[in-house]
Amino acid sequence: MNTYQDKFIIIGGNSLNGCINVQTSKNSILPILAGCVLCDKQVVIKKVPKLLDIDNMFKILQGIGVKIVEGDDECIIDSSNICSNTLNQDLCKTLRSSIFLLGALLARTRQAVISYPGGCDIGNRPIDLHLTGLEELGVKILKRHSLIYCDAKDMHSGTVQLDFPSVGATENLMMASVFLNGVTILNNVAKEPEIVDLQNFLNSMGCKISGAGTSQITIEGVNNLHSTQYTPISDRIVEGTLMIATAITGGNVVLKNANYKNNESLIAKLSSVGCQIDVKSDIINITSKGRPQSIDLIDTQVYPGFPTDLQAQMMALQSVSDGVSIICENVFENRYKHAKELNKMGANIILRDRVAVIKGVDELTGAPVDAYDLRGGAGLVLAGLKAKGYTTVNNIYHIDRGYDHFENILSELGADIKRI
Ligand code: UD1
Repeated sequence: MNTYQDKFIIIGGNSLNGCINVQTSKNSILPILAGCVLCDKQVVIKKVPKLLDIDNMFKILQGIGVKIVEGDDECIIDSSNICSNTLNQDLCKTLRSSIFLLGALLARTRQAVISYPGGCDIGNRPIDLHLTGLEELGVKILKRHSLIYCDAKDMHSGTVQLDFPSVGATENLMMASVFLNGVTILNNVAKEPEIVDLQNFLNSMGCKISGAGTSQITIEGVNNLHSTQYTPISDRIVEGTLMIATAITGGNVVLKNANYKNNESLIAKLSSVGCQIDVKSDIINITSKGRPQSIDLIDTQVYPGFPTDLQAQMMALQSVSDGVSIICENVFENRYKHAKELNKMGANIILRDRVAVIKGVDELTGAPVDAYDLRGGAGLVLAGLKAKGYTTVNNIYHIDRGYDHFENILSELGADIKRI
């Protein structure tokens, strides 16, 4: 689907208009794929988008003996013959979500060897919460030569109190606990919609998990799981990106297979800058006319606060808004690499530690820019859609990790964007 040399060429200036289906959530499907390892029967996952992260997750799963049959938009996962509990080190470095396999593998085989996961370069991204949570459940952990050896033969149910509501640690601990005798309670967990989706998927295989979406999750141990078919939720970050794209270019876009409830913090901000947003069941209709207003402050937070995964796209919007906007990035300590690139396009952004001050300019001008991470890359594409002249976005393999053929979606809505 992608080569590492691919780039986008964008000629800015077109407004976006039309109707588009929102793809399935990357951040739901990745832990769900890890969760398939819990079950020794076939599992069918539907509406699977074509994403680099999913390709890499498939390769990691195949490396431990999982058989995967990919259809047009569904895949059949057969984990009946797990032949290894050592994950491929090189692939783990490409994908942060490889860490989810730790909990699922320990639950299934009681042993696992993993390396430190990779993913977007947006901060330190330690995995201490994952590991201390597992230790509290009796897992013995040894770190040697950049590998992490985990022994779960004495793993037991219990109560884990997370110091911070980490999405990944919550998902990992949920999966690690499904076969433990008794009841495991996870406190101060993340409340993201993808956690609820993971609970629904695991329960559809016979797990007994409740509380996802609140700060406490309860897992009642079961002995066996059964096969299931599951369609994960739509991608709230892709949905949000397309709403912000419409806000920046002007136009009218209808998003189908959407879920406005998962994007209420964004919808409030976009309404405040002058967009008109109407919602009806799974449809969002957004209209943007004229220059958007600035936003006094965007504070990224854990869900239901403003998502860090939409910060870069909002920075692109604020770059051309009327007035001065401020962003405070509270979730990741190094998530502003796109700011320097936006400034190459004529934006006026000043950074101080976790704070960005954005003075809206009348016009951006096209320039060659580099994507450094997935959402930052999407933000640069949005800026390119608005900028005068040609923008080249390099390193779009980052964008391919999370957007299923972003150029096709945007072209369908009227943008002038090509992959070369
Ligand atoms: C998930 C999402 C990612 C999103 C992020 C925050 C997936 C596949 N990825 O990432 O798109 O940006 O949530 O909404 O779902 N932390 C620690 N120790 C840990 C774990 C996390 O200090 O053991 C810190 C991180 O460095 C970060 C913060 O907690 O500063 C949030 O991380 P976390 O919620 O774990 O994000 P991910 O699960 O990695």
